[in-house]
Formats: sequence, C-alpha cells, structure tokens
Amino acid sequence: MEKSQRVVLISGASRGIGAATAREMGRRGYHVAVNYRRNADAAAEVVSAIKVAGGSAQAVQADVCDPEQVSVMLDAIRADRGGIDALVCNANTVNPPFEPLLTLSWDDFIGKVNGELAGAYFLTQGVLRGMAEQRKGRIVYVSSTAAETIGAVAAHSTAKAALNTFSRHVAGVAAQYGVVVNTVAFGAVRTDATAGVMTDDLRTFMESRAVSGRLLEPDEAARSIAMLADEDFIASVGQVLRVDGGFEVLDQQLHPMVGHFE
Ligand SMILES: NC(=O)c1ccc[n+]([C@@H]2O[C@H](COP(=O)([O-])OP(=O)(O)OC[C@H]3O[C@@H](n4cnc5c(N)ncnc54)[C@H](OP(=O)(O)O)[C@@H]3O)[C@@H](O)[C@H]2O)c1
Repeated sequence: MEKSQRVVLISGASRGIGAATAREMGRRGYHVAVNYRRNADAAAEVVSAIKVAGGSAQAVQADVCDPEQVSVMLDAIRADRGGIDALVCNANTVNPPFEPLLTLSWDDFIGKVNGELAGAYFLTQGVLRGMAEQRKGRIVYVSSTAAETIGAVAAHSTAKAALNTFSRHVAGVAAQYGVVVNTVAFGAVRTDATAGVMTDDLRTFMESRAVSGRLLEPDEAARSIAMLADEDFIASVGQVLRVDGGFEVLDQQLHPMVGHFE
C-alpha cells in the first residue's frame, strides 16, 4: 500500500496526556491511531475531536502489555495505513499504590515495573524493524520525574528509571537506522491518574513549586511530546527531557540552605 499521510500510534490515548497528544498530533497533520485498553467511548471521543478539527484518526484497542494484542493492533494499522512513522509509548499501564517501601508488597512493586516495561518493550519491538527498513521514524517514551524521587513511590520510581534506561538502549540501536528516540519526564500533570492521589496539601506543595502556580495541563504536556515525535525534530537523541513546570529549580530556591548564600 502507498502511504499518503504520516501515521502516529499513541498508546493510552483515550484519556489524559495521551488524548491531548493525539489531538496535538492530529493538528500537526498526522493520522492518529488512538490506542486504548477498555474505554472505547473515550477513545471514540478523541477520534471525533480530531476529525471535527479537520484531522484523521482511528481508535485501536489493545492491552499494550499483551504481545498478541500488540501484534494484531500493529498489523491492522499497517494494513490500513501502510506503516507507522511515529510511536508514543504513553499508556499508564499500572497505577501502583503510593505505599511506604516497608509495607509495599512484592506483587505491587514488580507489577508496576513489569507493566511499565511490557508496554514499552512490545510496542518498541513491534515498530522498530519497520522504522529501520524505512530508515526513518520517531519514538517517544513518556516517563516521570518520579524516576529521581525518594518516598512512597518506590514502584513508580523504579519503573520509570528502568524505562529511561531502556529508552537509551533503544535510542542507541535506532540511531544506526536514522530513527530518533527520546523520552520526556513529566512532573505532576492534571489527569485522572493524579486526581486519585492529589490531596489538598500535596497540591499546594506542588503548586508552590510551579512557575505558573498550578499543575501542568495535559495540553501543555502534549506539546512537548509532539515536539519530540514530529519528523522535523532531530536536535536530541537518547535524551530524557525534564518537563516539570519549574519544580526542580523552584524546589532548590525554596530550600532553607539558599538563604545562607543570598
Ligand atoms: N499525570 C501525571 O502527573 C504524570 C506525571 C508523569 C508521568 N506521567 C506518565 O504519563 C503517562 C500518561 O499518564 P496519564 O496521567 O495521562 O494517565 P491516565 O489519565 O490514567 O490515562 C491512562 C491511559 O492509559 C491507557 N491504558 C492503561 N493501561 C493500558 C494498557 N495496558 N494498554 C493500553 N492502554 C492502557 C488508558 O486506557 P483506558 O481509557 O482504556 O483505560 C488511558 O488512555 C503515563 O505513562 C504516566 O506514567 C503522568
């Protein structure tokens, strides 16, 4: 089949950051494959919004942790569209409990690490050969600043740190074929995933360490993913871009030690 339009596959695009990225990539002229696991209605809404805005999209169901389902999904997209130019590994496959390390169960710990890596691994293996043959392509992994955080997030942090390392390995292999791979690590973004854990105290703390005085919105997060996923982007390879609304520098500014040097 002859390809007429660039194609991006976004995992977990029915809600949150993935849905916003789907709309942004649609605006940029990509045909968007909107992957979801269960929420067909939400995926259909994203597809409809892209089409209403003049773009092109389709919903594609698959649990990205299941290699059979990933394979069927990728075959369907290729049969329909002729290939995949960009992949965004975004699905929030497992929400681990925010549990202190001493009481965190092994099943919860390894379940998060396993789910995070399975989603990235099966999709990566599924698209990379085709991209290497085309000698072009973009892969973006969606990670978190939690990879560097210590606290009741051991499962989440370990999973995202592993994802960062995995992404650098993929980048090294892919670069030999002209395929550009990068990762974006977000601070807190206002989505369903954060709604469940964001107490008033935590929100106030996070907002005090944001240049804007508020959490990042999914649309803001989406623009940084889209920048890295777009075929025009070639400026970095194998990097983890921190997108935290200023958290890191403001956190340091507010540290008691800063006062001793002003
Ligand atoms: N929100 C934040 O503050 C934040 C911060 C740093 C990093 N991140 C990362 O950003 C990414 C998106 O997070 P989010 O907050 O937007 O998540 P979210 O609002 O919880 O949305 C999760 C999305 O992932 C899909 N999904 C879950 N498991 C899946 C599976 N096995 N296969 C396919 N799709 C699956 C869901 O599909 P259904 O609708 O069908 O359930 C949904 O579209 C995640 O990788 C997360 O770790 C988020």
